[in-house]
Amino acid sequence: MGKDYSKFIRNKDFLGKVVSAEEAASWIEDGMNLGMSGFTLFGEPKEFPLALSKRGENENFKVNVYTGASLGPTADQSMAEADIVNLRVPYQANPVMRGKINSGEMYYIDQHLSHVAEEVRKGSLGNIDYAIIEAAAITEDGTIIPTGSVGNSPIFVEKAENVIIELNTKAPTAYEGIHDIFVLEEQGERGEIPIYSVGDRIGEPGIKVDLDKVRGIVISEQPDIPSPLFEPNKETQQIADNLLDFLGKEVDEGRLTKSLAPLQSGVGSVANAVLNGMKDSQFRDLEVHSEVLQDGIFDLIDAGVVKFASGTAFSLSEKRVATLAEDLEKYKGKVLFRPQEISNHPEVIRRLGIISFNTALEVDIYGNINSTHVSGTRVMNGIGGSGDFARNARITIFVTASLAKNGDISTIVPFVSHVDHTEHDVDVIVTEQGFADLRGLAPVQRAEKLIEIAHPTYRSQLRAYLEEAKEKVGGHTPHMLDKAFSFHTSLKENGTMLFEEEKVKN
Ligand code: COA
Repeated sequence: MGKDYSKFIRNKDFLGKVVSAEEAASWIEDGMNLGMSGFTLFGEPKEFPLALSKRGENENFKVNVYTGASLGPTADQSMAEADIVNLRVPYQANPVMRGKINSGEMYYIDQHLSHVAEEVRKGSLGNIDYAIIEAAAITEDGTIIPTGSVGNSPIFVEKAENVIIELNTKAPTAYEGIHDIFVLEEQGERGEIPIYSVGDRIGEPGIKVDLDKVRGIVISEQPDIPSPLFEPNKETQQIADNLLDFLGKEVDEGRLTKSLAPLQSGVGSVANAVLNGMKDSQFRDLEVHSEVLQDGIFDLIDAGVVKFASGTAFSLSEKRVATLAEDLEKYKGKVLFRPQEISNHPEVIRRLGIISFNTALEVDIYGNINSTHVSGTRVMNGIGGSGDFARNARITIFVTASLAKNGDISTIVPFVSHVDHTEHDVDVIVTEQGFADLRGLAPVQRAEKLIEIAHPTYRSQLRAYLEEAKEKVGGHTPHMLDKAFSFHTSLKENGTMLFEEEKVKN
C-alpha cells in the first residue's frame, strides 16, 4: 500500500480503500450522474476529475456533473476541454465551460443553489451514481471532514450509490471544526431549521458516510485554488460608497441600527469594495450570513468590525490562500460553513432578516433584474444564490456599474433581455451614479428613480422611452412592445445602445 495515511484516515476500516485517481476514474460509465463537492473553486476534488478528463481524451463517454457551485481549472475546465460533460448543474463560471454551453456543445441547468439538494432528494435529477467528495480527514467514527466548502456534499453522500473520497493531505488540518452539517428530512416530514442567530451550531462537524458505499479513496496533494483579487477601483468604490450611504440613511431614519442586520454579499469586485468600505464606516459589530466568504470578510474580522461570519464556501485570493492554515486557527469560533441548502434556505434568510446585495448585469426601468444572460442569450455564470437571498431578504439590493463595454452598453434598459429576479423581489438598485430606493413605489415612480441613476449619456433616451410608453400605451406598467428591446437591437445593429440622435447630443 505504500505511504501511511493513518494520520488523515483515522478509521482503520477505510485505510484499505486507497486507490489511484486513474482506477477511480475507470469506474465511471457513460451517462452516469456524478455529485461532486466544490463551490467557488474551494473544496473540489482535483485528481479525480483530471484523471477522468484524461480518460476522456481516448474514450467516448459523457457524464452529468452536479456540484455545489463553480469548480476550477482541474475540474470544470479540464472536463469541458475533454468534452466529457453532457449536463452541468447548477452554477459554473469557467470561460471554457461557458463557451461550450453557449455553443450548444453541452447542456446546463442554471438552478437556484438552495434547490439542488431538494431536487436530488426528490430524484428529479436522476440517481447519483457516484459522489466524489474532497476531504481533509476521515475521523475515527467514519465521518468525512470537508475542506473549504460544504455545498451539496451531504446530500450527494446520502443519496449516492457509491462514494469516492478525495483525501487532500495538503488541506489545512484546521478545517476540522469549522463545518456545521445539518441534514434535512424528506419534505412533509421535517421540522424547522433551528438557526435563530448567525452563529448557531445545529449539526455535526462532518458528513457521516456508510463504509460500504465508499468504493475508493484517492489521495491528493493539490492546494486550494485561489480566485482573482478584487481591488477596488474608482467606479466600484463609488458604488460601494453609495450603498453605504443607503445603509446610513436606514440607520438615520431608525429602520436599522449601526450593527445593521446579517449581511449577504455576492462575489466580485463591487462586493469586495463594499466590504472594504465597511472598515472605515460607522457600522460596527456586524454579522455575515452569506453563501461565499471572500477576502473582505476576513479583513473585517481582523478589523474587529465583523464578529461572526457563516457561509457555505470560501472564495479567497492567493494572498489569503497562502495564510489560510494559520488564519483558520485564528478564526475558529468566528466562522462556520453549512450545507448550501441551509445557508441559502428561505426559512433561515427570512428569520434572520438578511440584508442582501448581489451584482446585476442589467436592470430595467421597473426593477426587473438580469444576472445571467448577455443580450438575453449567452449565459455568463448563473443565478447562483442570488435568487435564494433576493426573494427572502429583509432588504434586497442589486449593484451594477451604469455602463459596460466602454459605454456601448447601458446596464439600465427599458426591458431586461432575461429575467432572473422580478421587480417584486427588488428593493434597491445602486450604481456609481447613486442609489434608487424602490420600496413603496409604484412602477412608473420606480422608473423615474431608476432613470436618475442611469449613466447621464443614456438618461434622455430612457426618459423618452418612458414618456412615449406612458402617452401611447399607458397602463400600470407602460411598455411599447415594438420598442422594449430597442437598446438591445441598436447594440446588435450598430455596436452601441446609444441611438444616433443621442450621439449628436453627447
Ligand atoms: N451586457 C453585456 N455585458 C455586460 C453587461 C451587460 N449589461 N454588464 C456587464 N457586462 C460584462 C462586463 O463588461 C464584464 O465583461 P468582461 O469580463 O469582458 O470584462 C462582465 O460582464 C462581468 O462584469 P463585471 O462588471 O466584471 O462584474 P462581476 O465580475 O462582478 O460579475 C456578474 C457580475 C453578474 C456576472 C456576477 O456577479 C454573477 O455571476 N452574478 C450571478 C450570481 C450571483 O449573484 N452570485 C452571488 C450569490 S451569493
